[in-house]
Amino acid sequence: MARKIRIGALISGSGTNLQAIIDACESNRIDGQVVFVGSDKAGVTGLERAHRHGIASFVSGYGAIIRQYQEAPGTLILPADFDLDELWQKQNLFGPETPRQKVEAFITTRAIIEAELLQKIAFFRPDLLILAGFMRNLSPYFIDRFNNDPADPRIMNIHPALLPAFAGVDGYGDTFRYGCKIGGCTVHFIDYGEDSGPIIGQKSFPIAEDDTLDSVKQKGLALEWQLYPECIQLFAENRLQTVLMTYTLDDGRVIQRRVVKIVQAAEK
Ligand code: GAR
Repeated sequence: MARKIRIGALISGSGTNLQAIIDACESNRIDGQVVFVGSDKAGVTGLERAHRHGIASFVSGYGAIIRQYQEAPGTLILPADFDLDELWQKQNLFGPETPRQKVEAFITTRAIIEAELLQKIAFFRPDLLILAGFMRNLSPYFIDRFNNDPADPRIMNIHPALLPAFAGVDGYGDTFRYGCKIGGCTVHFIDYGEDSGPIIGQKSFPIAEDDTLDSVKQKGLALEWQLYPECIQLFAENRLQTVLMTYTLDDGRVIQRRVVKIVQAAEK
């Protein structure tokens, strides 16, 4: 049998996706095991799920560092390899109109928190990191250090909308309020932007006139619980390949798009 991959999970809440992934590992639908669960919030149900399954867990204190930055920034110790300019250039979360102070606060606090997070995570030697309802953006500081090879990303996220529509914190709510006839969910590798990395898989469902926000969420979540384990299993089988594809249009213009190809295991 193939080697089981080591999966780390970051969560912020109820962890129903985490549960679906743990169940898929336990029933061998994923050739893998969840080796840790990290949360940015204490006391959430997802941490209880980890505990019930004997999985190591920890809480990463985002709030404390952000408060310390606001109240006494001089007392914070920056990581030795912190480079504000480099991170500023790479980050793709804020446009040029965002006040300098806000971007600097984000980059600085994240690097401090993420340096500690990377240390905690390294202990568990994960092959893949999954964001399962983790409501924080990871910054380039973290992404570059976790993805040893930029061509071979290994941080996945699930988003409650058909990306690139409705990125952000309320995918189902935004889909519902817009009056969409179809909703869906997306699993993608993360990059420096918000919900903007290369797409691995999507599933969709119809939205009827008498649907409610709750019924839309229920339909969507039920699909998430199928989609995420399927995408993780493709990763475990070494079948995901991120490629830049180039096309020449009839008028001579060249366009490029990043695609996650699902290949036969032997092709990679
Ligand atoms: C899920 O719907 C997931 O797609 C969404 O949070 C929910 C977490 O539920 N994630 C995001 O919005 C990320 N931007 P869960 O904790 O029960 O898995």
